[in-house]
Amino acid sequence: MSDVTATTNAKSSSGTGKGLEGIVAAQTAISLIDGLNGRLFYRGLDIHDLASHSTFEETTALLWYGRLPNRKQFERFRQKFVDNRMIPNDIVSIMLTLPPKTSAMGVLRTCVSAVATYDPDTGDNSLDANVNKSIRLTASFPTFIAAWHRIRNGLWPISPNPDLGHAANFLYMLTGEVPNEHIARALDIALILHADHGLNASTFAARITSSTLSNLHSAIVSAIGTLKGSLHGGANEQVMRMLLEIGSMERIDQYMRGAFASKKKIPGFGHRVYKADDPRAFWLQKLSKQVGEEAGKTRWFEMSEVIRKAVQEHRALPVNVDFYSASLYYTMGIPTDLFTPIFAISRVAGWTAHVYEQYSDNRLIRPESEYVGPMDVPYQPIDERP
Ligand SMILES: CC(C)(COP(=O)(O)OP(=O)(O)OC[C@H]1O[C@@H](n2cnc3c(N)ncnc32)[C@H](O)[C@@H]1OP(=O)(O)O)[C@@H](O)C(=O)NCCC(=O)NCCS
Repeated sequence: MSDVTATTNAKSSSGTGKGLEGIVAAQTAISLIDGLNGRLFYRGLDIHDLASHSTFEETTALLWYGRLPNRKQFERFRQKFVDNRMIPNDIVSIMLTLPPKTSAMGVLRTCVSAVATYDPDTGDNSLDANVNKSIRLTASFPTFIAAWHRIRNGLWPISPNPDLGHAANFLYMLTGEVPNEHIARALDIALILHADHGLNASTFAARITSSTLSNLHSAIVSAIGTLKGSLHGGANEQVMRMLLEIGSMERIDQYMRGAFASKKKIPGFGHRVYKADDPRAFWLQKLSKQVGEEAGKTRWFEMSEVIRKAVQEHRALPVNVDFYSASLYYTMGIPTDLFTPIFAISRVAGWTAHVYEQYSDNRLIRPESEYVGPMDVPYQPIDERP
């Protein structure tokens, strides 16, 4: 056996490129992260302007079509969203067969896989067909999640309410109550903020899958599986678990000292691209405070403020999108395991935009690996192996 490290025709990545850090793997005109200055743009528009003035539906149109729709275009687009919120009864039947403990992200992944078989355009990769599939999928994500939440609690799913916007309708289908305007707008802004984010891991997964010329539903299934992880979208749930574990203001100091001593990663902090605080956190902080004050429940927001101070005094780590979304959603009464699915309800807009972009100028995404294993290992017959 030789201990020679085999080389391929790729440049060695030892010491560099781990996790593809700093590697430009695609060109995109969808979103730009200015990590040094803590800025984010969708199609050239500043996220702060979109969070101030737009809605999730309008932002989705911006991501898909490249510019803001005029009033007539927007009305037509919004109506298509409303018309496609219902999900096939067979999908509800599938949910009824799933163990109640199945994770909501697992259910979402299963629903997207299953609903592909009902979509008339499933195997058609033309832009028109992909836009139609994207509308159906994006419109039905809230219905999948809300239906699952009710089914697992022994309740019957609630039909979508055509008079409500995307965010408000989700909360309505979850609880059976029309949310107040402030709560609905807070979730709408959160959805705007999560809709796209450069070549993050789940978007990259969607682009890799589309680059093989697989279909849009398969790309979205890949993306959902990738978003679920605790280093990515799953971090918002981890933030809430940390807050609940700490439990009270008095215990923060001790908890943080232990976490720093054991070099534990604190969910909601750190980012591959941002060196300054994430601009989305600015909004989520504001919303978490506002919703908390209106509900008379500021505990989780106040604890978050103290934790942030402790983390940033300890080390210069940027606060990221997942930190304040946790206290915001929890204060709104949303169960912790639905936080990452809410991220998906929004990010599907960006994933699908990236799928169109990948198809429009496709080349198979196929990097190389640096082989570091043994060479020329002799084959030992099974009975001679130790
Ligand atoms: C987001 C994340 C995965 C980025 O990872 P990355 O670019 O590979 O950065 P690294 O994990 O290599 O971190 C670089 C350094 O910062 C530290 N660091 C990064 N995030 C940290 C965190 N949340 N808490 C404590 N230390 C952290 C690492 O320990 C490492 O320290 P070292 O240089 O002393 O070894 C990482 O910051 C993280 O795990 N954050 C927590 C999970 C999270 O909030 N994810 C959502 C991201 S939007």
